[in-house]
Amino acid sequence: VSVRVGVIGTGIMGADHARTLHRYVSGADVTLIADLDLARAQSVADSVATGTRAVDDPYAVIDDSDVDAVVIASHDSTHAEFSLAAVDAGKPVMCEKPLAPSVSECARVVEAEAKTGRTLVSVGFMRRFDPGYVELRSAIGARSFGDPVVMHCISRGVRSGPGTTSEVSVTQSAIHEFDIVPWLLSSPIVEVSWHAARKTSQSDERLQDPQVMLLRTADGVLTTVEVFLNARYGYDIRCEVVGEAGAVSIAEPARLVTDLDLRHATAYARDWRPRFAEAYRLELQSWIDGIAGGGESALASAQDGLVATAVAEAVIESMHDGGRPVRVARG
Ligand SMILES: NC(=O)c1ccc[n+]([C@@H]2O[C@H](COP(=O)([O-])OP(=O)(O)OC[C@H]3O[C@@H](n4cnc5c(N)ncnc54)[C@H](O)[C@@H]3O)[C@@H](O)[C@H]2O)c1
Repeated sequence: VSVRVGVIGTGIMGADHARTLHRYVSGADVTLIADLDLARAQSVADSVATGTRAVDDPYAVIDDSDVDAVVIASHDSTHAEFSLAAVDAGKPVMCEKPLAPSVSECARVVEAEAKTGRTLVSVGFMRRFDPGYVELRSAIGARSFGDPVVMHCISRGVRSGPGTTSEVSVTQSAIHEFDIVPWLLSSPIVEVSWHAARKTSQSDERLQDPQVMLLRTADGVLTTVEVFLNARYGYDIRCEVVGEAGAVSIAEPARLVTDLDLRHATAYARDWRPRFAEAYRLELQSWIDGIAGGGESALASAQDGLVATAVAEAVIESMHDGGRPVRVARG
């Protein structure tokens, strides 16, 4: 029997998850889709499968008897509220990152889930399923290039979304690094600081772009994080770990190499969807397999979501305080 999935929010990510679940994930049926914009929900439902219904009420998805499990891909500010409703209904939920933009909201979800005695909440930190990050984690664990000393993470995009602020850049984009760095190193982030380069012509008074953050993990490794949302040239995610005997970094996956006009080139994606397509698919397949098998989720947990948001809050505290190093409050 298939797991019947309801999707809340059919913007870029929700539409992508609905189609991935339908086309590339076995054991899942997308039965119901909600978006405040009903026409958008309807067009995604039409593109998924005959019989997939569309509504404009997210709670109708959570409460529907044809929905066993819920994907939340609406605006960040709605994540905690919908996750709590899914937990109340006793349904597994895959909430896009961040679990919530504040630790207090994350804590409400963690507490509500704990009361059920079940693992219901998974968080969409899909890099944990990206083949490059998975191999990097094994290489670090095997100490094949010695003990890690420093790490460099780069997260660049073509253009920031409308209304993006410096704080949103941290809670929405840099948060991927706050989850993946401790996951790679198997060591929690204990101290952070935030730094500004000069603003570019693409930044405005509310958005410092690029931003640089320093993360110190309990193992003493120092990580640099550059988040540059308006880097223009392409979506470019890099990660290099330097150890005592060598260094290792993730190679940008490229399928085609073009030789033309005296150039030897590979292309960048415009956004995250092609770069992480395999990670999204593997993440959703793992989530569905966990539900079907009645076992634990292999995805990031609600507690992992809370910990990443705690790092984001510490980074924002540093941002508001001239880049002063801030200790991360451990939940
Ligand atoms: N894991 C990743 O790589 C990744 C990448 C991009 C975005 N995201 C996350 O996914 C989520 C969606 O991002 P997006 O880029 O698709 O955004 P988007 O703005 O394209 O889409 C959001 C959709 O949610 C709908 N929506 C908003 N509030 C709603 C509500 N209360 N009820 C029902 N629908 C509502 C909007 O109408 C819109 O269609 C965000 O939380 C974002 O942080 C994750």
